Amino acid sequence: MSTTDVRGRFISFEGTDGCGKSTQMRLLAAKLRAEGQDVLETAEPGGTRIGLQIRSILLDSTNQELSPTAEMLLYFACRAQNVDEWILPALDRGATVLSDRFTDSTLAYQGAARGLGREVVMALHQIACRGLLPGLTIYLDIDLDTSLERAHARNRLIEDKDERRMDEQAVEFHHRVRQEYLKLAEMEPGRIKVIDGRADRKTIAARIWETVHRV
Ligand code: TYD
Repeated sequence: MSTTDVRGRFISFEGTDGCGKSTQMRLLAAKLRAEGQDVLETAEPGGTRIGLQIRSILLDSTNQELSPTAEMLLYFACRAQNVDEWILPALDRGATVLSDRFTDSTLAYQGAARGLGREVVMALHQIACRGLLPGLTIYLDIDLDTSLERAHARNRLIEDKDERRMDEQAVEFHHRVRQEYLKLAEMEPGRIKVIDGRADRKTIAARIWETVHRV
């Protein structure tokens, strides 16, 4: 199936750790369903059964020796499986697909923060996703202090699952992630919409709803 002739809408949610995108995505999905839309919710890394197995390698904090390139390829392996198994079939039947993170995450975390570069990430994107990009990306922007505070609070709640590897990165790493997101939004203002993630939940949801309808 080609990625250019799909019928449905594809919306991704992006942001640094703890920005609240997962909650906002759930709220948007509920609203769209209430309108009678067929909605597929997915998340990366994860999504598919195989993707969840790859996720456990990626987020395992004992995997400290995972090389940046191996890490990037695993994120793309996860995404390729998700695109083929869930996303393209859903778009083809006319559904709206909501994804908690997509290739912009790899651009920000591996391309910028790990320093692998945009070109490498986009070359792999062409292979793994055959160029499929969301029509709309909601980037929930929060400052670094808020992001780390929320991530640490969440980590304290994760007891049995060891999923802290990415959250344990240095402050400088998270700074580079945010700077890249802001740069990407500047480069692609038509697709990536920046929404202030520090507002209260209801206000953010209203802004997202308005953006989705406008775009
Ligand atoms: P997750 O527990 O799903 O948290 P979040 O709510 O922040 O999405 O963790 C995903 C982690 O993986 C997060 O730190 C961002 C990182 N990540 C990448 O580094 N590259 C990627 O391509 C993706 C999809 C995620």
